[in-house]
Amino acid sequence: MKVYVTRPLPEPSVSELLAGFEVEIGVRGEGLSRVAPYVDALLPTPADAVTRSLLESAPRLRIVANCAVGTDNIDKDACRERGIVVTNTPGVLTEATADLTWALILALTRRLREGEALVRSGTWDGWKPMELLGFGLQGKTLGIYGAGRIGQAVARRAAAFGMSVVTFTSRDAPERFDELLETSDILSVHAPLTSATRHRFGRAELSRMKPGALFINTARGGLMDEAALVDALEHGPLGGAALDVYEHEPRVDARLLSRSDVVLLPHIGSATRETRLQMARLACEEIRRVLSGEPPVNRVV
Ligand code: GLV
Repeated sequence: MKVYVTRPLPEPSVSELLAGFEVEIGVRGEGLSRVAPYVDALLPTPADAVTRSLLESAPRLRIVANCAVGTDNIDKDACRERGIVVTNTPGVLTEATADLTWALILALTRRLREGEALVRSGTWDGWKPMELLGFGLQGKTLGIYGAGRIGQAVARRAAAFGMSVVTFTSRDAPERFDELLETSDILSVHAPLTSATRHRFGRAELSRMKPGALFINTARGGLMDEAALVDALEHGPLGGAALDVYEHEPRVDARLLSRSDVVLLPHIGSATRETRLQMARLACEEIRRVLSGEPPVNRVV
C-alpha cells in the first residue's frame, strides 16, 4: 500500500512506524496531484491543501492524517462524502504553542526586536531612562478567543504574569464577545479556522478594541482580516500585533513588514524538536492503524 508524506518529518517516525508500506516523501508537497491516483494514505501538513479536486483524483485514498491539530487545509466535507478518514494531532502541541504565544507577547510588549537590533547595530551607547519603554503586564487583562486546550494553557501562564483573563468560546453568549473586545489589553486568538470563525476579527471588531490594545495570533491567519488588522495598526485603535500565522500564507501583507509595532514569525507555534516528533509519530500511527484495518484514534472525519 502506498503512502505519500508531503514533506520530510522528524525521525524516528516514518522510517519506523510506516516500515511495512511503500512510502514516498515529497519535498514541498509538490507531488500531491501526481501521486493522488495511486495513493492509499496521505500525510500532509498545514501548508498542503487537500482540496475536493485533489480528492476526486484519488480513488484509492482511505486516510488523510494531517500533521497538525488544525485541519482547515483539508476539504472535510469531500472526505466525509467519500468515507475518507481524516485525523489530526491534538494534545502534543498544546504546551509548545502556548509557550510561543507568550514568547510573542513578551517580545512585543518588551520590544525585543528593536532592542536586539540596537545592540547588533553597534550604536547602543548605554542605559537610558527613556529607552525602549514597553508595556507592563501586571494588572492588565488578557483576552483569549477560543478556550480549548491551547487557549487554556495560555490562560494558565497568565497567572504567573499577574494578568487577569477573559475567555470567549463558541458556547458563550454574544455579549461575552463584546466584553472580550472591549476589555482586553492583549487579545490572543486560539480557535480553529472554520466557516464560522473566518474573519472573526474584521474591521468592525478590531475597531471596538481598547486604544493601544495588542493583537496576538498563533492559531490561523484566516481568523483575522489581515488588511483590516494593518489598518487598525495604522489608524488605531491597535497599539501592536504579534503574528505567527497569516491570512494567505506564506504571503504576508507588505505593510506589516516595515512596522516596528509588530512581531512576525513563520508559523512555528509547535516547532520544538520534541513536539514536531510527537506530531509526526501520531500521524504515522493513524496511517498504520487505518491501513491495517484498525480504528483511528484522533478522528476528525
Ligand atoms: C499547526 O499549525 C497546527 O495546527 O498544528
